[in-house]
Amino acid sequence: MKTLVLFGSPRKKGHTKEMLDLLLKNIGGEYEIIDAYNLKEEIKPCNDCRYCWKNNGCSIKDGMQDIYKKIEECDNIVLASPIYFFSITGKLKVIIDRFQPYWASLLRGDSPKEYRKTGCILMVGGAKAFENQFLGGELVFKRLLEDMKIKFVGEVTMSNSDRKSLEQQPEVKKQILDLASRIVELNKMG
Ligand SMILES: Cc1cc2nc3c(=O)[nH]c(=O)nc-3n(C[C@H](O)[C@H](O)[C@H](O)COP(=O)(O)O)c2cc1C
Repeated sequence: MKTLVLFGSPRKKGHTKEMLDLLLKNIGGEYEIIDAYNLKEEIKPCNDCRYCWKNNGCSIKDGMQDIYKKIEECDNIVLASPIYFFSITGKLKVIIDRFQPYWASLLRGDSPKEYRKTGCILMVGGAKAFENQFLGGELVFKRLLEDMKIKFVGEVTMSNSDRKSLEQQPEVKKQILDLASRIVELNKMG
């Protein structure tokens, strides 16, 4: 199984990375991380030129072209971000906006007919848990998976990271392990 991660934390050893490492270790197989704050090639913001309304692709020829290819080649996608002001982080949002050609497949009429691949979400918030703490990020990520026609397997959120690490939140660790098993199971079934 090949996993592609879209990773949105600028902190290389932060809580999001810890959650991600645990998930990847338990999924196994190959993986690649697209690190939004440390990209190999620049990714420009979407400028709503509407090229993708008629063409299956993006008019901006930059680092994103390689990511489109990697999305098609992987079996499983992990969307991972801290919450910044109720949403995912800025650099990751720039990448997500560049997936507009997937949304536009609805206009072009060439979106995949069936759900394919598996996808999941990891999010971290520093504040103690409160209602709708993760809603902003959840709407963005879930809509992206839907536009890509990717099967949503589940999400794990960790609150209170300003005070407690993953190690100190065993219930979150367990949810990550359960999520990993579901992903492995679904990919075995094909
Ligand atoms: C600019 C900024 C905005 C933040 N906004 C929120 C927020 O809206 N809700 C929340 O729970 N935590 C918020 N946080 C806290 C982060 O989610 C928290 O520090 C998290 O652990 C960062 O993830 P990382 O450890 O992977 O870097 C914010 C942090 C920053 C720097």
